[in-house]
Amino acid sequence: ARDDAEGSGNRQSVSVILLAGGKGTRMGANMPKQYLPLLGRPIALHSFQTFAHMMEVLEIVVVCDPSYRDVFEEAAKDVAVPVKFAMPGKERQDSVRSGLNEISNSAKLVCVHDSARPLVLVKDIRKVLNDAAVHGAAVLGVPVKATIKEVIEPELLRRGFELVEREHLEVTDDVSIVEHLKHMVFITEGSYTNLKVTTPDDLLVAERILHQGTPAG
Ligand code: CTP
Ligand code: MG
Repeated sequence: ARDDAEGSGNRQSVSVILLAGGKGTRMGANMPKQYLPLLGRPIALHSFQTFAHMMEVLEIVVVCDPSYRDVFEEAAKDVAVPVKFAMPGKERQDSVRSGLNEISNSAKLVCVHDSARPLVLVKDIRKVLNDAAVHGAAVLGVPVKATIKEVIEPELLRRGFELVEREHLEVTDDVSIVEHLKHMVFITEGSYTNLKVTTPDDLLVAERILHQGTPAG
Protein backbone atom coordinates (compact mmCIF):
# COMPACT_ATOMS: atom_id res chain seq x y z
CA ALA A 1 0.00 0.00 0.00
CA ARG A 2 3.08 2.24 0.34
CA ASP A 3 2.97 3.93 -3.06
CA ASP A 4 0.75 1.56 -5.04
CA ALA A 5 -2.14 3.96 -5.36
CA GLU A 6 -0.16 6.57 -7.25
CA GLY A 7 2.63 4.53 -8.76
CA SER A 8 1.15 1.33 -10.12
CA GLY A 9 0.14 2.75 -13.50
CA ASN A 10 3.78 3.29 -14.40
CA ARG A 11 5.28 0.26 -12.70
CA GLN A 12 8.88 -0.31 -13.85
CA SER A 13 8.52 1.88 -16.90
CA VAL A 14 11.13 4.54 -16.17
CA SER A 15 14.88 4.45 -16.79
CA VAL A 16 16.70 6.94 -14.60
CA ILE A 17 19.93 8.51 -15.86
CA LEU A 18 21.70 9.72 -12.73
CA LEU A 19 24.30 12.29 -13.75
CA ALA A 20 27.37 12.13 -11.54
CA GLY A 21 30.06 12.80 -14.11
CA GLY A 22 30.90 16.40 -13.27
CA LYS A 23 34.00 17.71 -11.54
CA GLY A 24 32.40 20.23 -9.19
CA THR A 25 34.80 23.03 -10.07
CA ARG A 26 32.77 25.77 -8.39
CA MET A 27 32.60 23.83 -5.12
CA GLY A 28 36.41 23.83 -4.95
CA ALA A 29 36.55 20.68 -2.80
CA ASN A 30 39.15 17.90 -2.99
CA MET A 31 36.65 15.60 -4.73
CA PRO A 32 33.67 16.08 -7.09
CA LYS A 33 30.87 17.68 -5.07
CA GLN A 34 28.42 14.80 -5.59
CA TYR A 35 30.57 12.63 -3.31
CA LEU A 36 30.82 15.12 -0.43
CA PRO A 37 28.88 13.99 2.64
CA LEU A 38 25.43 15.40 3.34
CA LEU A 39 24.22 14.19 6.73
CA GLY A 40 26.69 11.33 6.58
CA ARG A 41 25.87 10.10 3.06
CA PRO A 42 27.46 11.12 -0.26
CA ILE A 43 25.26 13.72 -1.98
CA ALA A 44 24.71 11.44 -4.99
CA LEU A 45 23.34 8.62 -2.84
CA HIS A 46 20.45 10.75 -1.56
CA SER A 47 18.66 10.89 -4.94
CA PHE A 48 19.99 7.42 -5.89
CA GLN A 49 18.08 5.98 -2.94
CA THR A 50 14.99 8.12 -3.61
CA PHE A 51 14.75 6.68 -7.14
CA ALA A 52 15.75 3.16 -6.07
CA HIS A 53 12.66 2.89 -3.86
CA MET A 54 10.14 4.01 -6.46
CA MET A 55 8.20 1.22 -8.14
CA GLU A 56 8.07 3.21 -11.39
CA VAL A 57 11.83 2.82 -11.77
CA LEU A 58 12.97 0.02 -14.06
CA GLU A 59 16.71 0.69 -13.72
CA ILE A 60 19.22 3.36 -12.75
CA VAL A 61 22.02 4.22 -15.17
CA VAL A 62 24.72 6.00 -13.18
CA VAL A 63 26.98 8.21 -15.29
CA CYS A 64 30.17 8.54 -13.28
CA ASP A 65 33.92 8.21 -13.39
CA PRO A 66 34.78 4.48 -13.04
CA SER A 67 36.79 5.22 -9.88
CA TYR A 68 33.52 6.11 -8.10
CA ARG A 69 31.43 3.13 -9.20
CA ASP A 70 31.97 1.37 -5.87
CA VAL A 71 30.00 4.13 -4.10
CA PHE A 72 26.89 3.10 -6.06
CA GLU A 73 27.66 -0.64 -6.15
CA GLU A 74 27.71 -0.65 -2.37
CA ALA A 75 24.36 1.17 -2.17
CA ALA A 76 22.89 -1.09 -4.87
CA LYS A 77 23.27 -4.11 -2.56
CA ASP A 78 20.42 -2.79 -0.39
CA VAL A 79 17.92 -2.18 -3.20
CA ALA A 80 16.12 -4.35 -5.76
CA VAL A 81 16.51 -2.07 -8.78
CA PRO A 82 19.17 -2.95 -11.42
CA VAL A 83 22.06 -0.47 -11.57
CA LYS A 84 24.11 0.09 -14.72
CA PHE A 85 27.03 2.42 -15.42
CA ALA A 86 28.01 4.73 -18.27
CA MET A 87 31.09 6.83 -18.91
CA PRO A 88 30.79 10.60 -18.41
CA GLY A 89 31.36 12.95 -21.33
CA LYS A 90 33.00 16.35 -21.57
CA GLU A 91 29.84 18.41 -21.10
CA ARG A 92 26.64 17.59 -19.26
CA GLN A 93 24.80 16.78 -22.49
CA ASP A 94 27.59 14.36 -23.48
CA SER A 95 26.98 12.52 -20.22
CA VAL A 96 23.23 12.42 -20.93
CA ARG A 97 23.94 10.93 -24.38
CA SER A 98 26.26 8.34 -22.86
CA GLY A 99 23.64 7.30 -20.31
CA LEU A 100 20.97 7.11 -23.01
CA ASN A 101 23.06 4.49 -24.87
CA GLU A 102 22.69 2.14 -21.90
CA ILE A 103 18.95 2.25 -21.21
CA SER A 104 16.71 -0.76 -21.67
CA ASN A 105 14.45 -1.06 -24.73
CA SER A 106 11.49 -1.64 -22.46
CA ALA A 107 11.70 1.84 -20.88
CA LYS A 108 8.71 4.05 -21.65
CA LEU A 109 10.18 7.18 -20.10
CA VAL A 110 13.68 8.33 -19.36
CA CYS A 111 14.25 10.54 -16.34
CA VAL A 112 17.49 12.55 -16.33
CA HIS A 113 18.51 13.70 -12.85
CA ASP A 114 21.48 15.77 -11.64
CA SER A 115 23.01 13.98 -8.67
CA ALA A 116 23.86 17.50 -7.48
CA ARG A 117 20.15 17.80 -6.53
CA PRO A 118 19.99 15.49 -3.51
CA LEU A 119 16.68 16.72 -2.09
CA VAL A 120 14.31 15.94 -4.96
CA LEU A 121 10.96 14.74 -3.57
CA VAL A 122 9.11 11.58 -4.66
CA LYS A 123 5.90 13.59 -5.06
CA ASP A 124 7.61 15.96 -7.51
CA ILE A 125 9.22 13.09 -9.44
CA ARG A 126 5.75 11.55 -9.79
CA LYS A 127 4.31 14.86 -10.99
CA VAL A 128 6.96 15.31 -13.66
CA LEU A 129 6.68 11.65 -14.78
CA ASN A 130 2.94 12.00 -15.16
CA ASP A 131 3.33 15.28 -17.06
CA ALA A 132 5.95 13.70 -19.34
CA ALA A 133 3.62 10.79 -20.03
CA VAL A 134 0.93 13.27 -21.06
CA HIS A 135 3.00 15.88 -22.91
CA GLY A 136 5.91 13.81 -24.19
CA ALA A 137 8.47 15.77 -22.19
CA ALA A 138 8.44 17.62 -18.88
CA VAL A 139 10.90 19.33 -16.57
CA LEU A 140 10.61 20.38 -12.92
CA GLY A 141 10.82 24.11 -12.39
CA VAL A 142 9.91 26.73 -9.85
CA PRO A 143 8.65 30.21 -10.63
CA VAL A 144 11.39 32.77 -9.99
CA LYS A 145 8.68 35.39 -9.47
CA ALA A 146 4.92 35.16 -9.91
CA THR A 147 5.10 37.69 -12.76
CA ILE A 148 7.49 35.51 -14.76
CA LYS A 149 5.18 32.52 -14.45
CA GLU A 150 2.33 34.63 -15.82
CA VAL A 151 4.44 35.64 -18.79
CA ILE A 152 5.25 32.03 -19.63
CA GLU A 153 1.73 30.69 -19.51
CA PRO A 154 0.09 33.07 -22.06
CA GLU A 155 3.09 32.41 -24.32
CA LEU A 156 2.43 28.68 -24.14
CA LEU A 157 -1.20 29.32 -24.93
CA ARG A 158 -0.31 31.63 -27.84
CA ARG A 159 1.94 29.01 -29.38
CA GLY A 160 -0.82 26.47 -28.84
CA PHE A 161 -3.33 28.65 -30.71
CA GLU A 162 -0.88 29.09 -33.59
CA LEU A 163 -0.44 25.34 -33.90
CA VAL A 164 -4.15 24.62 -33.55
CA GLU A 165 -5.07 27.17 -36.25
CA ARG A 166 -2.32 26.11 -38.62
CA GLU A 167 -3.19 22.42 -38.38
CA HIS A 168 -6.96 22.79 -37.83
CA LEU A 169 -6.85 20.71 -34.64
CA GLU A 170 -9.88 20.10 -32.48
CA VAL A 171 -10.07 22.15 -29.32
CA THR A 172 -12.35 21.71 -26.32
CA ASP A 173 -10.75 24.14 -23.84
CA ASP A 174 -7.54 26.05 -23.08
CA VAL A 175 -5.83 23.02 -21.62
CA SER A 176 -6.42 20.96 -24.75
CA ILE A 177 -4.70 23.68 -26.78
CA VAL A 178 -1.58 23.31 -24.69
CA GLU A 179 -1.86 19.54 -24.91
CA HIS A 180 -1.55 19.76 -28.67
CA LEU A 181 1.97 21.07 -28.14
CA LYS A 182 3.41 17.61 -27.66
CA HIS A 183 6.80 18.69 -28.90
CA MET A 184 7.15 21.28 -26.14
CA VAL A 185 8.69 20.58 -22.76
CA PHE A 186 6.00 20.91 -20.14
CA ILE A 187 7.07 22.77 -17.01
CA THR A 188 5.98 20.90 -13.91
CA GLU A 189 5.86 23.04 -10.80
CA GLY A 190 8.38 21.58 -8.37
CA SER A 191 9.62 22.61 -4.92
CA TYR A 192 12.04 25.34 -3.87
CA THR A 193 13.76 22.79 -1.63
CA ASN A 194 15.02 20.90 -4.72
CA LEU A 195 18.14 23.02 -4.81
CA LYS A 196 21.26 22.26 -6.81
CA VAL A 197 24.41 22.04 -4.74
CA THR A 198 26.94 24.23 -6.53
CA THR A 199 28.97 26.10 -3.88
CA PRO A 200 29.77 25.40 -0.18
CA ASP A 201 26.87 27.69 0.85
CA ASP A 202 24.40 25.41 -0.94
CA LEU A 203 25.63 22.46 1.10
CA LEU A 204 24.80 24.33 4.31
CA VAL A 205 21.31 25.19 3.03
CA ALA A 206 20.72 21.55 2.03
CA GLU A 207 21.74 20.41 5.51
CA ARG A 208 19.35 22.89 7.11
CA ILE A 209 16.47 21.75 4.89
CA LEU A 210 17.12 18.11 5.83
CA HIS A 211 17.29 18.99 9.54
CA GLN A 212 14.24 21.23 9.62
CA GLY A 213 11.93 19.56 7.13
CA THR A 214 10.32 21.39 4.25
CA PRO A 215 9.98 25.12 4.99
CA ALA A 216 6.89 27.03 3.93
CA GLY A 217 6.84 28.43 0.39
N1 CTP B 1 27.57 16.44 -15.03
C1 CTP B 1 27.91 15.27 -15.71
N2 CTP B 1 28.86 15.31 -16.70
C2 CTP B 1 29.46 16.47 -17.04
C3 CTP B 1 29.11 17.66 -16.37
C4 CTP B 1 28.16 17.61 -15.36
O1 CTP B 1 27.36 14.20 -15.40
N3 CTP B 1 30.39 16.46 -17.99
C5 CTP B 1 26.58 16.39 -13.95
C6 CTP B 1 27.12 16.84 -12.61
O2 CTP B 1 27.73 15.75 -11.92
C7 CTP B 1 25.90 17.38 -11.91
C8 CTP B 1 24.99 17.84 -13.06
O3 CTP B 1 25.54 17.30 -14.24
O4 CTP B 1 25.23 16.40 -11.15
C9 CTP B 1 24.89 19.35 -13.14
O5 CTP B 1 26.16 19.93 -13.40
P1 CTP B 1 26.89 20.99 -12.47
O6 CTP B 1 26.02 21.37 -11.33
O7 CTP B 1 27.43 22.06 -13.35
O8 CTP B 1 28.09 20.11 -11.83
P2 CTP B 1 29.63 20.19 -12.18
O9 CTP B 1 29.83 20.37 -13.63
O10 CTP B 1 30.24 19.00 -11.53
O11 CTP B 1 30.10 21.48 -11.37
P3 CTP B 1 30.95 22.72 -11.95
O12 CTP B 1 30.17 23.26 -13.13
O13 CTP B 1 31.04 23.69 -10.80
O14 CTP B 1 32.28 22.18 -12.35
MG1 MG C 1 29.11 22.16 -14.65
